[in-house]
Amino acid sequence: MVERERTGITGLDKILNGGFPKGSTVMVLGAPGTGKTVFCQQFLSKGVREGQGSLFITLDNHPDEILENSKDFGWNLDSRENFLIMDVYSWKLGEEITGKYTIRGPSDLNQLNMTLSDALNDLGKDDKRLAMDSASSLTFYTDINSTVRFLQVVSAKTKYNNGVFVLTVAEGVHDEHGVSTLNYVADGVIRLKKENNKMYLKIPRMAKTSVKEEWHEFKITKTGIEFV
Ligand SMILES: Nc1ncnc2c1ncn2[C@@H]1O[C@H](COP(=O)(O)OP(=O)(O)OP(=O)(O)O)[C@@H](O)[C@H]1O
Ligand SMILES: [Mg+2]
Repeated sequence: MVERERTGITGLDKILNGGFPKGSTVMVLGAPGTGKTVFCQQFLSKGVREGQGSLFITLDNHPDEILENSKDFGWNLDSRENFLIMDVYSWKLGEEITGKYTIRGPSDLNQLNMTLSDALNDLGKDDKRLAMDSASSLTFYTDINSTVRFLQVVSAKTKYNNGVFVLTVAEGVHDEHGVSTLNYVADGVIRLKKENNKMYLKIPRMAKTSVKEEWHEFKITKTGIEFV
C-alpha cells in the first residue's frame, strides 16, 4: 500500500485517497491570488502539528508576513521547533544578513544548496515537509535550467527522506517550454484558478494515485482552504 501524507485540506485528502504519496514532489500551479501561498502554509502547518520537520523556503514573501498571515488562520508556526523558514526574500531589502537560514541572494545556488542541507539536518527526523514559494521567482534570478537542476536536487533529497516537497509555480509568467520543464520535476500537479470570484482546484496528475481530472470548488475560510 502507498504510504501517504495528509495535505491538511480535508476534501483534498479524500480525493487523494489519504494525501500525497510519501517521497513525492508536487507542483502547485496557479495565477496570482489563487491560493498558492496559503496552500503551502496549510500543508506545512499540518506537518508541524503532526510533529514532522517542516521547512518553508520563501522567495515571494517576508518571513514575518508568512508568520503573521499563518496566525490569521490559527496556525501558530513560529513557536514550534520543528518549523523553519529559509529566507530567500530579505536580501531584497538590502539589510545585513544575519539569520542562519537567510540567503544572500537567490542567484548563488551553491549557497542555497548548503543552507538547505543545514536546515534539513537541523530538522533532524525523516519524513520532512518542504514548500518552496515560488519556484517561478528562482527562474528570474537564475534561469529555467539551473532552477530545474536545483529543484531536482531538492526533489531527490525529499525522496531519500521519504518526505513531500511542494513547489509553487505562477501561471502566466513562463512560456510553454518553462512550464513543461518545471512540470518534468514534479510527480504530481495541482492547479488552482479563480473564476467569477470563485476558487477551484484540480489534479491533472498525481503519482501512485488514480484521480479524476475535474475542478473542485473551494473557499478560503478562517481555518484555511476548505472544499465547498
Ligand atoms: N490571512 C488571510 N485571511 C483571509 N484570507 C486570506 C488570507 N491570506 C490570504 N487570503 C486569501 O487567499 C487568497 C490567495 O492568497 P495567496 O497569497 O495564497 O495567493 P497566491 O496564489 O500565493 O498569490 P501570488 O501569486 O500573488 O503570490 C487571497 O486573495 C485572499 O483572498
Ligand atoms: Mg503567493
